[in-house]
Amino acid sequence: MDIRFKRIHHIGIAVPDLDSGAALWGPSGLGLTEEGREDVTEARTRVAMYPVGESRIELLEAMGDDSPVGQFLAKRGPGIHHICFEVEDIEAECERLRGLGLRLLSERPQPGAHGSRVMFIHPKDSGGVLVELNEFSSEQTA
Ligand code: CO
Repeated sequence: MDIRFKRIHHIGIAVPDLDSGAALWGPSGLGLTEEGREDVTEARTRVAMYPVGESRIELLEAMGDDSPVGQFLAKRGPGIHHICFEVEDIEAECERLRGLGLRLLSERPQPGAHGSRVMFIHPKDSGGVLVELNEFSSEQTA
């Protein structure tokens, strides 16, 4: 059996800013430990990762009100933004999902955090849930 979705890599949560998110999710709040922050300039998003077992909570701060996360916050407020599955072969998954008639948000996989490549399924085609697929090169899978 071929592996398609390997695990839930992270759950993305839109927050007003990473510091207030850290106050809730970090050591002085719910008790998770922040692994690091990164600006994903292509997505105009600043992210902070909090490992939990084999998955992570990914806090998302908008880089600009008209950025994708800024628009999400304006429309729906803070909360769960997307679920990310790690995949073995993102090109093959994109082709498979397109074959099922699902729309993807870009033609080709885009650069994501930590040198990964990402693709999003259109939430209208996945029951209102924004689904991210993420392929990491072998040295980035931890
Ligand atoms: Co994500």
